Amino acid sequence: MILPTVDYRRGAVEIIDQTLLPGEERIVRLVNLEETAEAIRSLRVRGAPAIGIAAAYGMLLALENLLAERDRQPRGHYFDRAEGASIPDAAGVAAGEVRLRLASARQTLAATRPTAVNLSWALERIARAAEAAGSDPAAVCAAVAREAFALHAEELEIEYAIGRNGAVFIGDGMNILTHCNAGGLATAGYGTALGVLYAAWEEGKRFHVYVDETRPILQGARLTAWELAKRGMPYTILCEGAAASLFAAGRVDAAVVGADRIAANGDTANKIGTLGLAVLCEKFGRPLYVAAPWSTFDLAAASGGDIPIEERPSAEVLSCGGARTAPEGAIAYNPAFDVTPASLIAAIVTDRGAVENPDGPKIAALAAGLPPLRP
Ligand code: MRU
Repeated sequence: MILPTVDYRRGAVEIIDQTLLPGEERIVRLVNLEETAEAIRSLRVRGAPAIGIAAAYGMLLALENLLAERDRQPRGHYFDRAEGASIPDAAGVAAGEVRLRLASARQTLAATRPTAVNLSWALERIARAAEAAGSDPAAVCAAVAREAFALHAEELEIEYAIGRNGAVFIGDGMNILTHCNAGGLATAGYGTALGVLYAAWEEGKRFHVYVDETRPILQGARLTAWELAKRGMPYTILCEGAAASLFAAGRVDAAVVGADRIAANGDTANKIGTLGLAVLCEKFGRPLYVAAPWSTFDLAAASGGDIPIEERPSAEVLSCGGARTAPEGAIAYNPAFDVTPASLIAAIVTDRGAVENPDGPKIAALAAGLPPLRP
C-alpha cells in the first residue's frame, strides 16, 4: 500500500494534508511556491524524505508558474508526474529568469525547516540538474522535472530496500515500540522505520506495535496509528511518559525509529523524545534500530553537535487538540528534535545495508560503497 503523501499532478504539488488526519483524508493542491513552503512549515507535509520530495516539487512548481505567467491564454499545465518530463515550450522566457526563479525558490524552501537534511539534499540535486542542463530555458525546465520525478521514484525503491534490510531484525511474536511517524506519510509512500515493520509483516511475521503518542504534534497517535489501522496491523498507543513502565514490565523487545539527520559518527537527530526512548532501550537492554535512506546522512556534520535543531512555537505545547491547556502567559520549551548518540543505537538500517553498532569508520565504509562492517 502506497500512501498519497506527495505528488506532482497537473501543474501543482498535491499532498494529503497531515494536519487533518486521522479525522479527514483531504488531498490539497498547492499551486505556488509560497503554498508549498507553508505546507512544509506547518507540517501539512512532513517527515524527512517527504519534505525532500515536496521541496523538489516546489522548485518545479516555481518553473511551472514562470512558464504559465507568460501565457496570454491560461492553459492546462506543463508538468505531471504520470505524463513524464517533456520539453515544454519556453519561448519568451529568458535563461536569466529561470536561474533567478530557481535560486529564489531554493532559498525560500531551504528556510522552511532546518533539521531534516533531506530538504537541502533534494534542493541541491535539483539545482545541479538545472545547472547541468545548460542555458536553454526549455531544457532546464525539462531537466528539473526529470530530476524531481526521478528523485521521487528512487525514494520509493530505497524505502523497499530499507524494509528488506531491516526486516531481519524483527521476529515473530515481538513487541516493538516506535516513535513519531516514519511511515508512508513521512516518505514517498511506504516508510522507513514503519517500512521495516511493513516488510516484516509482508514476510508473514506477526508482532505487536506500540506507538508513542509523540507530543506535542501527536504524529504517533494521529498518523502512525492511522497507517497501521489501514494495514490491519495490531497496535497500542501510549503516552511517552508510559514507555518506561512498558519496558519495566518486559513488554518491549525492540524499538525502531526514523531519522532526520545522521552525522558522520552515527549520532542521529530524530523527533523529540527519541533520546529518552534510546536511554530506556539501554537501561532495559533492548535494541534501538534507526531506519533511514542514505540521503539522511550528513557527512559534513562530524557529530550530533553539528546538527541544527528546529525550535517550534510554544503554542504547540500550550494547547492540545485546539484547546489551551496551560495558563495565559506560560512559555514552553519546544525543540522539535533531539540527538541520540551513536553508542545507544544497535543498528542504522539504510538502503545500502545495516550498520550494526554504528561509528565513524563503519559509516565512512558505507559511504565508500563498501559492504557494512559487522561488529
Ligand atoms: O516534525 P516531523 O513530523 O517532520 O518529524 C518527523 C520525524 O522525526 C521522523 O521520525 C523522521 O523525519 C523520519 S521520517 C521517515
